[in-house]
Amino acid sequence: MTAETLDVLDEEDPRAKRSRRDLQRVHRVMGTRSIVGRALEAMLASRPAQAPLRILELGAGDGTLMLRVAQRLSVGSPDVELTLLDRQDLVTRETVECYARLGWKALGYKKDVVDWGRENSFERPGLASDRWDLIITTLFLHHFETSQLVSLFEGISASTERFFACEPRRGWLALLGSHVIGALGVNAVTRHDAVLSVHAGFRDQELRSLWPARGIQWQVGEFQAGLFSHCFRAQRVGGE
Ligand SMILES: C[S@@+](CC[C@H](N)C(=O)[O-])C[C@H]1O[C@@H](n2cnc3c(N)ncnc32)[C@H](O)[C@@H]1O
Repeated sequence: MTAETLDVLDEEDPRAKRSRRDLQRVHRVMGTRSIVGRALEAMLASRPAQAPLRILELGAGDGTLMLRVAQRLSVGSPDVELTLLDRQDLVTRETVECYARLGWKALGYKKDVVDWGRENSFERPGLASDRWDLIITTLFLHHFETSQLVSLFEGISASTERFFACEPRRGWLALLGSHVIGALGVNAVTRHDAVLSVHAGFRDQELRSLWPARGIQWQVGEFQAGLFSHCFRAQRVGGE
């Protein structure tokens, strides 16, 4: 797998900063905010409205995509804690303050997800601090090889009640879109990474086939969303 340019550039590199801003434009065209918002509302609907909600986003980048989701989301809970994990330190104080205005307690967490997956690959029923009501990722899983995804899914499934991922769809329409993405005025890094992302994207039931069962019953689904996205969701059966 070829590494995306954004992954190897220093976080302060002006090309990386610009590409991260481009990503917000790309998300608008992909309709990511509404895809994620709809999925989360459906997955969280069965919870008691006032129960505290702990969310972990993996590969969260600067946290602004989830902020735009949160601004439209009706989760009911007055007590939402959001941890934004990324191997780069990208979440600004302004972004944290925007979350705070919504009543969400957001926290940037600098960590490589491979290490996180390794540390969380077994069930720890007693450790409430390591458990999440929901783990979410966007434009992230396609960075990893199949064997890494298997390990990561072990960690995710051992740590959460629900998991949702929204990734690039590997298909001709998304590939076409990635080749003409320059029309959005994005920089060379974004143009290059967009094509790689689609090639590394997912289709059919590819993610579902990697999800571990481990004696736990999961309700899983994998589906196309919008023109360019491919989503996977998993929810424990009989969970809270
Ligand atoms: C394409 S960006 C997506 C950011 C955000 N999820 C979004 O959709 O706007 C991918 C993010 O994954 C992060 N990343 C890549 N490999 C990682 C790893 N091994 N551990 C943690 N974060 C990683 C990068 O730093 C980057 O912020």
